[in-house]
Amino acid sequence: MQIVILKDSAEVAAYGADIFIKQLQKKANSVLGLATGSTPVSLYRGLIEACDAKLVSFRDVTSFNLDEYLGLEGTHPQSYRYFMNQQLFNHIDINKAQTHVPPGDADNPLEACVGYEEKIEAAGGIDIQLLGIGRNGHIGFNEPSSGLMSRTRVKTLTKATIEDNARFFRDDEYQPHLSMTMGIGTILDAKRVVLLATGENKADAILATVEGPLMAACPASALQLHTDAVLVIDEAAASKLSDRDFYIHIENENQKLMAKLP
Ligand code: PGA
Repeated sequence: MQIVILKDSAEVAAYGADIFIKQLQKKANSVLGLATGSTPVSLYRGLIEACDAKLVSFRDVTSFNLDEYLGLEGTHPQSYRYFMNQQLFNHIDINKAQTHVPPGDADNPLEACVGYEEKIEAAGGIDIQLLGIGRNGHIGFNEPSSGLMSRTRVKTLTKATIEDNARFFRDDEYQPHLSMTMGIGTILDAKRVVLLATGENKADAILATVEGPLMAACPASALQLHTDAVLVIDEAAASKLSDRDFYIHIENENQKLMAKLP
């Protein structure tokens, strides 16, 4: 894992956006794996600005989101389809027909999960997958105990995740307890994975991801198996890492090496 420790959330978002901008400049028809939550919002703003400035185009991009609430239609303000339209898709030149979010309102969610996997495969697989991380180490809605090789499926949310996400729902609004999410195996199949984490409340999850054992109790620890995973985190999220100085040293050496390459 490449671990990039930056000062604050603004630097994390800018660094993350730059990775996606470079990806699109290298491959205009990239297949992007996208995420919801508070963390990616500023990164998406960076992508919108890059699109406005004509540095990138999303015309030929296909996208797949990680997860969706089960039982919410895409027009529901708390659905992740709605979030993606509001935070990104409505502001860039992407063809919405090429954007995919797990269909949380499917009549047969189990079949729809299989269909989602098939669509990813038909698109040629995900080139680069964006991830946030839950306080409990979840990626997508793969909660602790998720199989490390799992595929897209229906998952029950933990109490902690329901509480964390309650801030988005009105008191009188129904908050789903089930989700449809790419599996950890689906995520690991992406050619590149970029996980963003900011804030002290993510420090334990980052510690378990980087320095803990590979275990279903911390789904993000599965990234230890990936050949091209980068964790872009701020000082607060990195604050519990025991080898923080070594990771900074590695990154400096990486930069020096990259600068020397032809
Ligand atoms: P957050 O969510 O970005 O809102 O903290 C991350 C996640 O739960 O994956």
